[in-house]
Parts: sequence; structure tokens; C-alpha cells
Amino acid sequence: MAQVIRMHRTGGPEVLQLETTDLGRPGPGQVRLRHAAVGLNYADTYFRNGTYPVPLPSGMGVEGAGTVIEVGEGVDNVQVGDRVTYTGFVNTLGAYCDERLVPAAPLIRLPDALGFETAAAMTMRGLTSAYLMRRIHPFKAGDTLLLHAAAGGVGLIVAQWAKLLGLTVIGTVSTDAKAAVARAHGVTHTINYSHEDVAQRVKTLTDGRGVDVVFDSVGRDTFISSLDSLRRRGLMVCLGTASGTIDGFNPNLLAMKGSLYLTRPALADYIADPTEKAALADEVFGHVAAGRIRIEIGQRYELGQAVQAHRDLESRKTLGSSVFVI
Ligand SMILES: NC(=O)c1ccc[n+]([C@@H]2O[C@H](COP(=O)([O-])OP(=O)(O)OC[C@H]3O[C@@H](n4cnc5c(N)ncnc54)[C@H](OP(=O)(O)O)[C@@H]3O)[C@@H](O)[C@H]2O)c1
Repeated sequence: MAQVIRMHRTGGPEVLQLETTDLGRPGPGQVRLRHAAVGLNYADTYFRNGTYPVPLPSGMGVEGAGTVIEVGEGVDNVQVGDRVTYTGFVNTLGAYCDERLVPAAPLIRLPDALGFETAAAMTMRGLTSAYLMRRIHPFKAGDTLLLHAAAGGVGLIVAQWAKLLGLTVIGTVSTDAKAAVARAHGVTHTINYSHEDVAQRVKTLTDGRGVDVVFDSVGRDTFISSLDSLRRRGLMVCLGTASGTIDGFNPNLLAMKGSLYLTRPALADYIADPTEKAALADEVFGHVAAGRIRIEIGQRYELGQAVQAHRDLESRKTLGSSVFVI
């Protein structure tokens, strides 16, 4: 029997329940995976509260790392005993568990240098950082980037990658403690957006010009100040909505604020092509294996603490990435 977190209705963290289930044998193209660690992503809260609708009842979670313990018919990319990691399967949420059946094809073999907890903390956030840094915009040394939630899981990976590329990063955070962590990971200037005027500080820090690119994962609370922080024809990347969704957007705003560009990307569209996915994975796992990027795991939980884990994430108590250790 497998231990699994499920929800029978959408709502607050309390809808997450620990249950047991009989998995059965892997079908054609599937493997049975024993998780060692599971990633906790901010996006999990969007599925849990109904922002991203899923059929109910549903499992939870899109990322895990562990060992293949049984393979189904026709599986030839992995074998029993292989260490693997994955992200995805948003149509069948269910990573919050100790064992599960998953399709074999999307599994990524884990380099020997990387432990399971690191893999679970970085497969989704690392691939996201990889497409943000390598596909969204042709960054060059000296470019300026406004990075919201800079001390978060995605934030700390992007900050370190941006430093490798020679960018000047202005990072927003909600506390002084988070500001110190962000600066220790390559953020050049920090802004505490709980009491500072972001666009005004950005204009001061960039001599009135504005930044080239904004990575905005906060959404409703920062959307307008992000647009106001951009240079003429700058790029707004709206990658998440931790503070709530952005309603009633009028494209004329982009013209009024300097012929801006706006994109709302999703990781799935940057890893749909297996060759591109492998290239992005090689690049980010290579940086981590070589020590050029550190994966900070600020919180570790047991599976039975899923409710607390979601509460911590939504109340902005977390630093870096969070994982369940199985
Ligand atoms: N589009 C994509 O492909 C993609 C893929 C992966 C992740 N994402 C997005 O990237 C973001 C970061 O994901 P993550 O898992 O690494 O999470 P995270 O950044 O570790 O956690 C979210 C952070 O958002 C900040 N925040 C600002 N306003 C908030 C509010 N009202 N409520 C809660 N948090 C608030 C908090 O930092 P402060 O306390 O410093 O404000 C919080 O720690 C999320 O928005 C996620 O949806 C997008």
C-alpha cells in the first residue's frame, strides 16, 4: 500500500489528507517509483485552492525524485534501480506520496553528483530558471533584471544564474532576513516591497532608465509597479501569481507605459520538446553539479505535514525551496 496525500474538494490547506492506496502493477510504458524526496511548489497551492481546476478527488504535487522499483511492458529508457527525477504530470497530480506509478518517458536520470533532496527541490524550479535565463530573452552582461520574491525557491536559483551571466539584479523581498539571503545569492540590490515603492527605487537604481526585464511571480500586488519599473520596450515576464491573479488587464497599458512586451509563460511549453528539455536539464543540473548554483532547501517536511507545509508557503514563512523527505 502507498501513502498518498489527496484532496476531495478544493479549498485551504486543510483539504489535504493522508490516505493509503493500492497502486497495482505498472502498465505498459509505466514504472513504479519509490520516492526519496518530493518537491513542494507554489503552484501546488493554485491546484489546491481551485485557481487551476483539476478533476476531484485528486492527488497533489508535480515533482519528485527516487528509485525505479518495477518497470512495465515496453519501458526501455530506465531500469530497476535507476535514480530518477521528474516534473510534470499536471493532468494527474500525485507526487505527494511515498510510491507511485508514472509514465517512464518523461523521467530524467539523476546525475550521480546530485542527491534526491536536491533533485526534488530543483527539477521544476531549475528547469523554470533555465528557460527564464536561456529562452525568454537573450540576456547579455550588464543587463538589468527586476526579480520578485528573490529569496524564494525560483528566486534564489535565478539570482545565482543571473550573476553567472553578469546581470545586475534588483530583487524584491518581504523581510530584512530574506534580503540578506538574496544578496548572498547574487542579488545586487534589494527592495523590501512590503514598505518601499518598487518602481521609484528601481528608477533611482537605474538612473531613471528602468530595467530591461522583470520576472514577476507575485502577480496582483506587483503587476503595475513591475510595468512602471521597465525601460522603454522592456519585457514583463508574468510567471506566477502568489498574491492573486491579475484581472481586467487592458493591452493599451503596454503602449502607455513605453511599448512594453508582456509574456505569461508556462514551463510545460518550454519542455514539450524532449530535445529542448534535455538541453535545459543538462544545463541546470550541470551548474548545480559543478557548484556554480547552490540549491537552498529551507524547509523539510514529512508527508503527513502537508497541511502545515502549505500554510508555511502561503504565509511567506519559507526561504528557498521546500521538500517532503520520504
Ligand atoms: N510559469 C512557470 O513556468 C513557473 C514554474 C515554476 C514556478 N512558477 C512560479 O514561480 C513562483 C515561485 O515559485 P516557488 O515554488 O519557488 O515559490 P517561492 O518563491 O518559494 O514562494 C513564493 C514567494 O512569493 C512571495 N509572495 C509575494 N506575495 C505573496 C503573497 N501574497 N502570498 C504568498 N507569497 C507571496 C513570498 O516571498 P516574500 O516573502 O519575499 O514576498 C513567497 O515566499 C510562483 O509564483 C510559481 O507559481 C512559475
